[in-house]
Amino acid sequence: MTRIAVIGLVGRSLFFEVPRFHSGGETIHASGIHEEWGGKGFNQAVAAARQGAQVAFLGAVAAPDVKPLGEFCAKEGIRAALVAKKTPTACAAIMTDGTGETRVTVYPGAELDAEDVDKGFYEKVATADILLLNNEVPETVNLRASEIAVESGVRIVFNPAPARPLADALKDRVALWTPNEFEEAELGDVPGEVVATLGKKGCRIRSTGEVIPAPAVQSVDSTGAGDTFNAVLAVRLAEGECLRDACIAANAAAAQSVAFKYVMPSVPRRPRLRLAK
Ligand code: RIB
Repeated sequence: MTRIAVIGLVGRSLFFEVPRFHSGGETIHASGIHEEWGGKGFNQAVAAARQGAQVAFLGAVAAPDVKPLGEFCAKEGIRAALVAKKTPTACAAIMTDGTGETRVTVYPGAELDAEDVDKGFYEKVATADILLLNNEVPETVNLRASEIAVESGVRIVFNPAPARPLADALKDRVALWTPNEFEEAELGDVPGEVVATLGKKGCRIRSTGEVIPAPAVQSVDSTGAGDTFNAVLAVRLAEGECLRDACIAANAAAAQSVAFKYVMPSVPRRPRLRLAK
């Protein structure tokens, strides 16, 4: 069983289904509302666990949320290291218009510190096949986690979302970047490989220039599609698949996820093949 370590933000995602997005000063009534646990890193952890990997997740929440979130992680088969903080749990307001377009605002809330990586997650990073990181945690956390990973020979897949300037030390440690097109432009030249996600067009491998197309689907809600893509890519690479085959599988999973509303109900589960006797 492959081992994936994920570090990231975790919090509440509040979905508001709107007929269209606001103009300045406008009030719009939502036709639907939905709450679930979310966060790019958390979504990636759920998606990787649903692919059959052994997943360890490090995240921070307000103390009262440790128990309920821990119970959810246990149900998903995720080995969660949840750090209780005095600040409120993160929260994202996600507006969706039913066509796959979204507007997301994230309050980062309870944040990890670099010390949290060493205190309760060192071994999980050091023994992982792949470490999944993203920009929804302080860079000090990613710097410490990536240092442990490199010392232990663990590959790092880094989703540079949301875009922000990155330390050169971090850039030198990452084997594979997975930006969207905007984030790719912000990322610039980096030593590792880059797989840029292109939404319904699939993804592009920077070193070869090849575009790997995604299956055509009717998009309903694209929230979390990138997280599903990252998780499936990491699991397949950890299983030894080549980058191109891993991209094909990641595209298919992300395409499946946008066909349904919200994230938790739409993150796909890998079919459990029962080989004929
Ligand atoms: O990538 C989608 C995620 O980004 C949502 O779950 C929301 O919480 C934001 O963190």
